[in-house]
Amino acid sequence: MTTTAAATTAPVLTATGVTMRFGGLTAVRAVDLTVHRNQIVGLIGPNGAGKTTFFNCLTGLYTPTEGTVTYRDTVLPPKPHLVTQAGIARTFQNIRLFANMTVLENVLVGRHTRTKEGLLSALLRGPAFRRAEKASEDRAMELLAFTGLAAKRDHLARNLPYGEQRRLEIARALASDPGLLLLDEPTAGMNPQETRDTEGLVLAIRDQGTAVLVIEHDMRFIFNLCDHVAVLVQGEKLVEGTPETVQRDERVIAAYLGTPFEGAPGEAEAAEVQAAEAHAAEETDR
Ligand SMILES: Nc1ncnc2c1ncn2[C@@H]1O[C@H](COP(=O)(O)OP(=O)(O)O)[C@@H](O)[C@H]1O
Ligand SMILES: [Mg+2]
Repeated sequence: MTTTAAATTAPVLTATGVTMRFGGLTAVRAVDLTVHRNQIVGLIGPNGAGKTTFFNCLTGLYTPTEGTVTYRDTVLPPKPHLVTQAGIARTFQNIRLFANMTVLENVLVGRHTRTKEGLLSALLRGPAFRRAEKASEDRAMELLAFTGLAAKRDHLARNLPYGEQRRLEIARALASDPGLLLLDEPTAGMNPQETRDTEGLVLAIRDQGTAVLVIEHDMRFIFNLCDHVAVLVQGEKLVEGTPETVQRDERVIAAYLGTPFEGAPGEAEAAEVQAAEAHAAEETDR
């Protein structure tokens, strides 16, 4: 089993007791989460559960009120550029691209944390700079080929269809050579075909050595892809385990339906349908 094998490998991410308060609201409460090398881990939960806030704590966008985030063996300072430099990249729930830059330029921007050439060298445009620039462009083109966007290299980002913009965001995130990629609702707004393509892409990312932590509402996507799934409800981790364990858990079902779980599955639903049918029959009788 993937999970057992992965569990014996070193963790890439260890979040310990992460809590985020905004005034009186505790958006994330004492969340522990581990992602191992070669794992795809899913983070699910109803809207407002604190999933994006948790990502923001992991990536240094927010300074957690309590808790620590460790990448490999290093406790991360809550500064986005240092987190990226350490090896964590992310995409956003609302696409963030440079709309008026080309596809290639967007990926080159993501590459910049991994190039050593300084500002002076860039201004002088000497041979070392040009070599580095060529290497960056080669790597960026590899990533565009990997994400299926090579033919669009000179298109402006804003002219890409929505699904391709999402993929470009992934290409840009990969340009920093991350050991861990965080994806916040990567298939939101996609059609079924684009969603299946994104599944393939996420698997390929994991297979080439980058662990993935993904927030997603599409349960088929989550349960197809993930080695491990954690469920966040009202800021707290309610359940975690294999997709099978999480799918069967009554508390998870209850959290999604928004009602306490009672009796046989589907009983309440069946009663509702019956009531609606009875009501409809009454209406036609009138
Ligand atoms: N910067 C912020 N200031 C105040 N409240 C916030 C902030 N960011 C998120 N929240 C609140 O935290 C809760 C969790 O939000 P979020 O993390 O976006 O949930 P999810 O991604 O699971 O839908 C919500 O109640 C939201 O309004
Ligand atoms: Mg969110």
